[in-house]
Amino acid sequence: MSFDLALFEAEVATRGLALGSRVSWSDETTSTNDDALAAAKAGALHGTLFGAETQSRGRGRRGNEWVSTPGAGLWFSLLLRPELRPELAPGLALCAGLAVRHALAARVAAKVLVKWPNDVLAGGKKVAGILVESQFTSAQVTCVVVGVGINVTQAAFPEPIAELATSLSLLGAAELGRERLLSDVLEALEGELSRIGTYGLSAVAEALRPHDALFERRLRVGDVEGEGAGIDASGALLVRRQAGDVTAVVSGHVELL
Ligand code: BTN
Repeated sequence: MSFDLALFEAEVATRGLALGSRVSWSDETTSTNDDALAAAKAGALHGTLFGAETQSRGRGRRGNEWVSTPGAGLWFSLLLRPELRPELAPGLALCAGLAVRHALAARVAAKVLVKWPNDVLAGGKKVAGILVESQFTSAQVTCVVVGVGINVTQAAFPEPIAELATSLSLLGAAELGRERLLSDVLEALEGELSRIGTYGLSAVAEALRPHDALFERRLRVGDVEGEGAGIDASGALLVRRQAGDVTAVVSGHVELL
């Protein structure tokens, strides 16, 4: 079933959401992040949402392709112009992760966790990914595009992600409507943006602690190996090494061991 834009707009209006109150939905695009970045250059406003049924060049982190099977998931990007200091920008991916986690956890029995920096796992497999692309000056974040892909109705995934990915449908969710799902994510994200704006990144890290896929898990990131020890007030991953010392890792792909 294709995305019911009127239903989504009614949800956004009923809930009084600022995020998603302007929306552009297309049948096909290259990447909704491209659409949002181009619109940002042309002056589009905070909260404008770009979604598509499918993307021909959907992208993930580290240059990976993001498979966007038509209508099988929620593929969207949100343009934010937050009044945040640049050092809070890494926190926005965590805010988005927490918001997606919240919406998904209400739909499935499996444990839904955030894997730093921006994956959402359910039952140990990836159900959603987040790609944040920002533009900022030294004083302020001017524009942040939060791209989110949530797998909804896929019954299987192609190699090489066949064993690593899952969908709401595979997780046994009864409610698969993308319009309500998107509204739930946006509503939760508004809460997270208000949290980071008021209390800072450490409050986001604290909120994430019970939902941290890496906490006390053996992991490797780059040449750092150890046990996840939470996220610090700058958004870095803390890793406790064998010797007991804790290292803060600012970027990289985490491999669970
Ligand atoms: C990742 O897990 O590596 C991040 C995946 C992000 C995918 C979404 S789908 C909507 C938006 N448009 C893109 O091209 N990518 C993001």
